[in-house]
Amino acid sequence: MIHIVDNLTSTNAWLSKYNSEIDDVVLAIEQAQGRGRRGNTWESQKGGFYASMVSSKHELLPFIVGISIIKVLEPHCRDLNLKWPNDIIFKGKKLGGILCEDFGTYSIIGVGINLENKPPLEGTTNLSSHGIDFDKSVFLASFLFHFDRISSLSSKEIIEEFTKFDCLIDNEVFWDGNSGIVKSIDLDGSLVVQSKGQKINLYSEEVHLERH
Ligand code: BTN
Repeated sequence: MIHIVDNLTSTNAWLSKYNSEIDDVVLAIEQAQGRGRRGNTWESQKGGFYASMVSSKHELLPFIVGISIIKVLEPHCRDLNLKWPNDIIFKGKKLGGILCEDFGTYSIIGVGINLENKPPLEGTTNLSSHGIDFDKSVFLASFLFHFDRISSLSSKEIIEEFTKFDCLIDNEVFWDGNSGIVKSIDLDGSLVVQSKGQKINLYSEEVHLERH
């Protein structure tokens, strides 16, 4: 079932409280306590796209969601990227984010995209300032179509598709006082980085890439 709610705390929190049927969706006009990754707040004024869905568990869920968002936007926007593991980048700035939460037997995926809203944060962008208008229900319908399709791909195909768009490949990344060059993404979703003469795997639950 698809629910549309004017104002709630967080679409992820709302679904976890009121619904846990696979494929249940909630779309909010605004969120009072939008949640980002790593305990951050997600600015959620009117004009943005804020939705969550109950999903079966999948090791590569954030990647499936990221590719689905790219497929929705690709016909309308040039210069789109993904940034491992969860960011949607448009013209070098953050356009949106993905929050996947594990509830044991199922997951809740949350998607936030800056459409007309302007988050008061450096390094972010929205679609309307580039002359791109998107209806939220059209966005949602297209997202659900692509999500279904991409979920059925093999892990290898999902990673190959994500890698095509990932702006970190061949670039230097920094974490916990270390640095390295991103080489690829492994089938388990970890980032493969060449650092101090060896290849190491970074896991999104364990590292936070720093901005430089
Ligand atoms: C990030 O930190 O980049 C992830 C942001 C995810 C935001 C979305 S908005 C809809 C859903 N509900 C939330 O509270 N968060 C996610």
